[in-house]
Amino acid sequence: IQYLIIKEPIKNRGFMMKQAEQLTAIKEYTIQKLGQDKTGHGMDHINRVVKMSKRLAMGEKVDPFLPIVAAYLHDTIDEKLVDNVDAAKQELVDYLKQNDFSDEQVKIIMDVINNISFAHTLDKEEVKLSIIGQIVRDADWLDAIGAIGITRAIYYGGGHHEKIYDPAIKPRHNMSREEYRNLANETIINHFDEKLLHLKDMMNTETAKKIANHRQQVMLDFLDEFHAEWDAKM
Ligand code: ADP
Ligand code: NI
Repeated sequence: IQYLIIKEPIKNRGFMMKQAEQLTAIKEYTIQKLGQDKTGHGMDHINRVVKMSKRLAMGEKVDPFLPIVAAYLHDTIDEKLVDNVDAAKQELVDYLKQNDFSDEQVKIIMDVINNISFAHTLDKEEVKLSIIGQIVRDADWLDAIGAIGITRAIYYGGGHHEKIYDPAIKPRHNMSREEYRNLANETIINHFDEKLLHLKDMMNTETAKKIANHRQQVMLDFLDEFHAEWDAKM
């Protein structure tokens, strides 16, 4: 595949111009990698996470450039989505260097996207995230809750042939990474108890905490209504 590589030495050009070109190249890379995704990690998810990362960065008074870059790239090396994670990481590092990201920027970006997934938090040791990592993780997790989160859970669950709900199957707690990915006894409604309702308290930035409070209520109202209708009470 031919990716977009910026051609000219850019030292002499304006700084903003350089960043704009780098963003174009990053977006192009992400479209190549995730443009065809049908698992809920397509460009619509990426674009929402980018937009929210920008908003959260503004709220934290952090330069939005690296949060936006990391938001675009955050799912391009995901173990669920690529066959060979190490090769995907190397390809990405090479691409960043070709596009004149400094060694320090590459390190920051890779550190963020290596450590933000929910599955990571199920492992024993907590990784301390940089402020940029906190912003992008908050943005990614905000996209898993609220009305969009409900829709994505149903979409993912349907795609993996989960049951909608089964009162005989209890939600699992303290799951390992393997258990989280084992969908044999998973239901869409249990996924709220197992993951989605916990994300609110794991937010880092103040803006994300406020947004998450609202989205939490949307999910709780939805679940109340679901159970009432299930029992023919509504
Ligand atoms: P991440 O990349 O943040 O680790 P996942 O790939 O686990 O996220 O999830 C992608 C989307 O699918 C999220 O909105 C998530 O809540 C949803 N999802 C993940 N696992 C399940 C499941 N077992 N049932 C329903 N939805 C799920
Ligand atoms: Ni994501």
